[in-house]
Amino acid sequence: MADSNGYYDLDLKRVMVLDNYEEMSKAAAEIVINTIKNKERTVLGMATGSTPLGLYGNLVQGYKQGKVDFSNTVSFNLDEYVGLDSGHSQSYNYYMRENLFSLVNIEHDHVNIPHGFSENSDKDCNEDCINYETKIQQSGGIDLQILGIGNNGHIGFNEPGTSFDSITRKVKLADETIKANARFFDDESDVPKYAISMGIKSIMRARKIILLASGIEKAHAIEKTVKGSITNMVPASILQLHPEVIYIVDKDAGKNL
Ligand code: PGA
Repeated sequence: MADSNGYYDLDLKRVMVLDNYEEMSKAAAEIVINTIKNKERTVLGMATGSTPLGLYGNLVQGYKQGKVDFSNTVSFNLDEYVGLDSGHSQSYNYYMRENLFSLVNIEHDHVNIPHGFSENSDKDCNEDCINYETKIQQSGGIDLQILGIGNNGHIGFNEPGTSFDSITRKVKLADETIKANARFFDDESDVPKYAISMGIKSIMRARKIILLASGIEKAHAIEKTVKGSITNMVPASILQLHPEVIYIVDKDAGKNL
């Protein structure tokens, strides 16, 4: 039974199991909007992929209705593919502009997305990654991190086996992630093999986290994340140790809870 706020209490974990994708997206948007409203300046951690599209749609609608103002919001994206320039239709830079940033009043220089373009030498890449991590800290740290989850339990591009101590760095995508993301590209061979991703430690430093999941193909990952043992073979399971995480899932993704 859900309580009056819609939360199921699973060993004190805050889980919202909602009827469908639209309800999940609305609940997430409400949390983001309230966070922005209650703070003079908000640092948001942004995710990409199919899952947060509904959330971003609701944020754009909220902005148009005058319910939320992004002028004092700073954003840091979780990850970006290596090798796609920001104009590439599958880059996360492009995705964020198309689905949120160009549609609300966030300041251009408040937006931060890892640089994935050019097969940077690992040295340049490391420097960029360290600067990204430093910039998050200098901005005061992330107030609210939005997360999706991979079918394999990844968060950001932190694939199974990733150290819980990881910070922003260049990562190799797991084969199952390449397969899952092939739907966005003409051919599976076009999916980049590498990405820049915030690490597990970078994510865990956020003051509050919402993890969204929709669809039956996420049910197993959600079950392991919320109820399984904490293991780096299911990267999202580390969230059990975070003091302020809310899992917002639809009925299908929450089927095994
Ligand atoms: P999806 O991706 O939202 O496109 O399912 C989530 C993820 O891989 O983190």
